[in-house]
Amino acid sequence: MALITKKIKGTEDVLPKQSYRWQFIEKIMREESKAYGFKEIRTPVFEHTELFARGVGQTTDVVQKEMYTFTTKGGESVTLRPEGTAGAARAVLEHALDNEGLPIKASYFVSCYRYEKPQAGRLREFHQFGLEEYGTQSPAADAELICAAQSVLDRLGLDQIHLELNSIGCPECRAKYNQALREYFGQFKDRLCDTCLSRLEKNPMRLLDCKSPQDQELAKDAPKITDYLCEECENHFSEVKRYLDSAGVEYTVNPKIVRGLDYYTKTVFEFVTDCIGAQGTVCGGGRYDGLIEELGGKHMPSLGFAMGLERLLMVMDAQGIAIPDDDKCALYIATMGDDAKVKAFELLRRVRECGLIAETDVVGRGLRAQMKYADKIGAKYSLVLGDNELSDNKAKVKNMETGEQTELALDESFAEKFSVLNLTDNSSFSI
Ligand code: HAM
Repeated sequence: MALITKKIKGTEDVLPKQSYRWQFIEKIMREESKAYGFKEIRTPVFEHTELFARGVGQTTDVVQKEMYTFTTKGGESVTLRPEGTAGAARAVLEHALDNEGLPIKASYFVSCYRYEKPQAGRLREFHQFGLEEYGTQSPAADAELICAAQSVLDRLGLDQIHLELNSIGCPECRAKYNQALREYFGQFKDRLCDTCLSRLEKNPMRLLDCKSPQDQELAKDAPKITDYLCEECENHFSEVKRYLDSAGVEYTVNPKIVRGLDYYTKTVFEFVTDCIGAQGTVCGGGRYDGLIEELGGKHMPSLGFAMGLERLLMVMDAQGIAIPDDDKCALYIATMGDDAKVKAFELLRRVRECGLIAETDVVGRGLRAQMKYADKIGAKYSLVLGDNELSDNKAKVKNMETGEQTELALDESFAEKFSVLNLTDNSSFSI
């Protein structure tokens, strides 16, 4: 059969047999966010284009080249979110959440859209888990947020991921630093790639993370931001490191971590691994003290991070980290005849009310085929329901692995007794 269309390049389907892997990591992320006092925020998948242009920044690759922007039938320019920070900040402002007290702590799971060249670990639709905290300038908050990210990665069982930390200062120290970079790279204009040449005036810090080998060579001797930090930024950075040291969080200060989005100030960080190829950044974040003002609010120093779920799953695969198997069917009832089908319908409903997975045939298979299917889905117990069982009002529940059988009455007690049997796994249990 010829399909009329296939999925869009750079997008992925998560199929029913794979989704437990996502649910496993999402559960850990939810638990950790909760432990750190964050509550979930859900914002729309599209926003006015202006939000990202102003929030993420006009000079960024994301805004210049990668946004999915379209004009609606009403003539408005809207954009599919390329990341979660701007939308969450917009919602915080729009609902004046600061009236409820500071800091505001929000977590999210979002799908994001960036028109990038797809490759392993780089998609056009991808998913992020993120935490954002508004209304604190304390370095303790930076360290706590990094600890939260580290806790998630630890609980996922990941290793060989290292934390790279930097401070890119405030607008004052950055202005001096940018000037120093312009002067330094300005000497090599004839050797810079076209992208770097165009960034030299507006966003010279981005030259530091250019992927071109020649530019990387030049970047090695470039001035370092850490030599240009003002006293306040310098102190803030020292304090962040002090808190991280006291928590035993290992990190490397990497002055080349500049991040690709314009809103960052002071602390920036990335968790990076070598085990999944070129797209090895699994988590990125930092402080963004000016964003809320940029979006029309009052001064509200804030910070956050986001992790890419696809990349984390790739790392888990690459490191051979086992994800617990999906829950299996506890009881499969095979039926013979219409009356048995109706009885199975009733029994299964009760078993499911006990929180167990229970199934029966709905495609009209014969008995043998039903049992084969029960085996295929890994059902723990099966039960055959025919005329004899209906007239005796009892049936044998069979442990599919050991073959042991336990007789249970098909009355109101069935579901509860089956639950106990399932729980104790004791096949000698009987009515
Ligand atoms: P980001 O570094 O652009 O930061 O993205 C965060 C994470 O999303 C990356 O580390 C990566 O794991 C994943 N990611 C990014 N682009 C792709 C892609 N094309 N395909 C697959 N995964 C991708 C932000 O988005 C900021 N909003 C993070 C933040 C939150 N900063 C402060 N608060």
